[in-house]
Amino acid sequence: MNSFGLTLTALCCIVVVLGGLPFSSDAQLDPSFYKNTCPKVHSIVREVIRNVSKTDPRMLASLVRLHFHDCFVLGCDASVLLNKSDTIVTEQEAFPNINSLRGLDVVNRIKTAVEKECPDIVSCADILALSAQISSILADGPNWKVPLGRRDGLTANQSLANTALPAPFHPLETLKKKFSDQGLDTTDLVALSGAHTFGRSHCSLFVDRLYNFSSTGKPDPTLNTTYLQELRKICPNGGSTNNLANFDPTTPDKFDKNYYSNLQGKKGLLQSDQELFSTSGADTISIVNKFSADKNAFFESFETAIIKMGKIGVITGNQGEIRKHCNFVNKEFAKLGLITKASVESEEGMSSSF
Ligand code: HEM
Repeated sequence: MNSFGLTLTALCCIVVVLGGLPFSSDAQLDPSFYKNTCPKVHSIVREVIRNVSKTDPRMLASLVRLHFHDCFVLGCDASVLLNKSDTIVTEQEAFPNINSLRGLDVVNRIKTAVEKECPDIVSCADILALSAQISSILADGPNWKVPLGRRDGLTANQSLANTALPAPFHPLETLKKKFSDQGLDTTDLVALSGAHTFGRSHCSLFVDRLYNFSSTGKPDPTLNTTYLQELRKICPNGGSTNNLANFDPTTPDKFDKNYYSNLQGKKGLLQSDQELFSTSGADTISIVNKFSADKNAFFESFETAIIKMGKIGVITGNQGEIRKHCNFVNKEFAKLGLITKASVESEEGMSSSF
């Protein structure tokens, strides 16, 4: 083989190797991707979310989380939206998602509205990315231009959802590892965690901190004592762990920088939140201090990080497909073709009807 042949072979190998990594290049994503094919997509998505949020302001937080839970598992390919079927082991039943994910029905409503205007054009993965950005703005949070052109994946991976997504009891080192596995650095971790400035958490996910932290029989020492009493009222010992607490006690539905001042005041709701500030000697402490002092610095870092997150493992071009219905791959949906309207699941938040 001559030197040109060798170079070409080497380049091909690099492309193959990089293509296999979870975080891929975004060369083909572009904020104006739908400029000619679906110019109204942004306003259609916005209208649906704006209407829902009038009666359910928490939905803005839920939609931001949905994009995150999509991207960390098989990349941003809408795998999280696929319902259980003969061929799909749904991510919706993975531990971080079960009885917890919200917004699936809202995404379906958006998809229906978008399909009406421009059928078979806009992917569900792009709808998730747009929904996150629109939700952030509607909650007075950061704004960014959403790179578009993602395609929808053909499968889901529940066991990967169980391992790839971070848990509220993970130590800082594990959180960093989960993020670096996705190509996200420590600043991205601290900035993206700032999304816990709005929305709610079930008591079950932090109740051990209130009564029996690390089997000590005592509360988490990194928890402010007044805040501890407030949380104990919401989550009584031995009571229902299904109750909900606001991430931010002062502005629960607003996307602001309070998350970081809460951490400085030992008022992080989850162990994984407080660790960013209370892990001794951690490099995350100075980042928390910076974001707490400077809203612009936080918003800028959040924008950078969420754009980066939105590019994880994306499939573009002819890969995957544009789903007709976000809860089914097209092949499955064709089989369901005769059913026109059926409720697939009825539980609040986990419902996905079509
Ligand atoms: C750093 C690791 C993270 C952990 C351990 C974590 C864990 C959690 C947990 C346990 C909940 C409560 C779920 C429930 O009670 O049903 C939650 C909610 C939430 N998470 Fe995270 N999360 C992390 C990072 C992120 C990131 C990166 C984002 C987005 C960029 C995000 C956005 C949200 C939002 C907005 C909510 C509230 C959702 C709602 O009210 O419906 N989280 N998270």
